[in-house]
Formats: sequence, structure tokens, C-alpha cells
Amino acid sequence: MIYVLGSINTDFVATVSRMPAAGETMTAQSFSVGRGGKGANQAAAVARLGGEVMMIGKVGGESFGVEAKAALRAAGADVRYVTACEAPTGLAMITVEKGDNRIILSPGANAMLSPADVDEAFSGAKRGDYLIMQLEVPLETVTYAAKRAKEKGMTVVLNPAPAVPLTEELVSSTDIIAPNESETEILTGVNPARGDVELALAVKKLYALGAKRVLITLGGKGAAIAEGQNIAYIPPRKVKVVDTTGAGDTFIGAMTLRLSLGDDFRSAAEFAAIAASITITRKGATASIPTLGEVKAVMEREE
Ligand code: RIB
Repeated sequence: MIYVLGSINTDFVATVSRMPAAGETMTAQSFSVGRGGKGANQAAAVARLGGEVMMIGKVGGESFGVEAKAALRAAGADVRYVTACEAPTGLAMITVEKGDNRIILSPGANAMLSPADVDEAFSGAKRGDYLIMQLEVPLETVTYAAKRAKEKGMTVVLNPAPAVPLTEELVSSTDIIAPNESETEILTGVNPARGDVELALAVKKLYALGAKRVLITLGGKGAAIAEGQNIAYIPPRKVKVVDTTGAGDTFIGAMTLRLSLGDDFRSAAEFAAIAASITITRKGATASIPTLGEVKAVMEREE
């Protein structure tokens, strides 16, 4: 079983030709409201790609929360530990400019996820299970869950997004740390996309924080994985980029699923890169995540 502890949001997405200047009003090329949240996207990725996933999260009691939970259930996730609370469902304001996104989060109900919720959801968790987390829910809850997961013999994958200073307590309970390019730069002071030397330095600094294995998603440059002295690039697939929102989440969900099925780190990351390459050809976050059939079709075509 893969547990995903994290955020569930409603995404308000405006596609723009350029970002407005301070004080300027401009018209969006298009606007949509969709399902998102890093946690929900990662859970949907595991489920759509054929995995068994248990989502742990909080929503509001309004229609956004009801719809978010229904969308996760429809994707194939077990939502018995997605509970409603007084606060409104989390909300993300997203602008997409030439395919790239900028996100502002209002956590709402996500901020109410507590260690008690973790205890309840982990009642059936066991050795060999996986736990994926991000940082759109309280750091205290994430740290507590990481420690409980390690006590139970689970593998912990941490996507430190949005990036905040990480404690030794959290990183030492993490098996794989998975930041993107900008989060890596915030955490290490080094931009890993600049070249091999910078990537190696960033990885070294992540190891120094206590990380055991590292995945860095590098947007248009693909991804890099690191374990011990070995660092390898996972090249990007050439596709027409429509919207990168949710690509990192797809990568993390897909990679974790394949690791849980016994793939080695590199094969799992290569599979995940194909899944994420499909996500960026479509608009939206949760809605753009592919199914296992779609990933297999690409693999067969490109064999
Ligand atoms: O990673 C993409 C996600 O980040 C969006 O769906 C948005 O909700 C924010 O959480």
C-alpha cells in the first residue's frame, strides 16, 4: 500500500501571455477551475497508474471539498481518511505562462491535518508500505508521520514543496528526498540545472541534510537521481508543452509506485519520466495525469 499524506486543493488557473506588472490589470487567455493539491495529484498518479493508494488529508465541508474527495475516489484512491473540517478547502491560484506555472497557495483545511489524523490512518500500515508527503500541510504533522512510518518499517518519500528549512529530525526519517529545481536551490543555495558540477554540489548538500537517496526534477531538462556516489540524468521526452502543473507530482507518484513494485531507482525514474511527459501535454493538475494504459502505449510506440 502507498500512503499519501498531503494537500487537497481547488486550483484556479489563469493562462496568460505574460505576467502583469505591479498595478496592471490584464485579461487572461483562458481560465479554469480544477482539482489539485500536491498530495491529491500524487495520490491520483499512483491510483491511475494501477497502484493501491490511501490518501490522508483534510477538506472543507463545502462543494469544493465534496468534489475533491469524489475526484480522488474516481481516480481510484481510498479516501476513508480524507475528512472534512470547519476550514475551507485549500485553494491554489495558478498562472500558466508559456506552459510554465506559478502557484500561490492558501492552505485552508490542509493546515488542520494533525498527528492524530496520522495515527488513525496508520492503524493498518505495515512494513514494506510506502509514505509520500509534501509540505503544503503542517511541518509538525509531516515530521510526526515520517517518524511513525520509520517505526513501522515503511519507506518515506518527501517532496519538500513548498521549500522551507528542513529539520534534521525530518530528513533523517526520510528515505528519498524529491525537490524540483527551485526547491533544491532554496534548500542548498545551488541551482542544480546549471551543470554537472552544480548538480553534484546540490546532491552533496542534500546528503549533508541527511538525505539517503535524491530525486531532483529539472523541468525541461528531465530529472536527476542520486544514490551514494552515483548520479544519473533521466532525459526528458520531447513533447509539446501545454501546462507543466502536476508534472512533478506525477513523477513522484509514478516513481514511488514502481519502486514499491520492485523496480530499481533508475527504471522507476524512467517510467515516471514518461508518465510526467504525458501530464505536461494537457491542461490542469489532477485531470492531466495519465493512466497506466496511456504510459504503456507510449512505451510500446517508442520501443
Ligand atoms: O504541484 C501542483 C499543485 O501545487 C497544484 O495542483 C496546486 O494545487 C499546488 O498544490
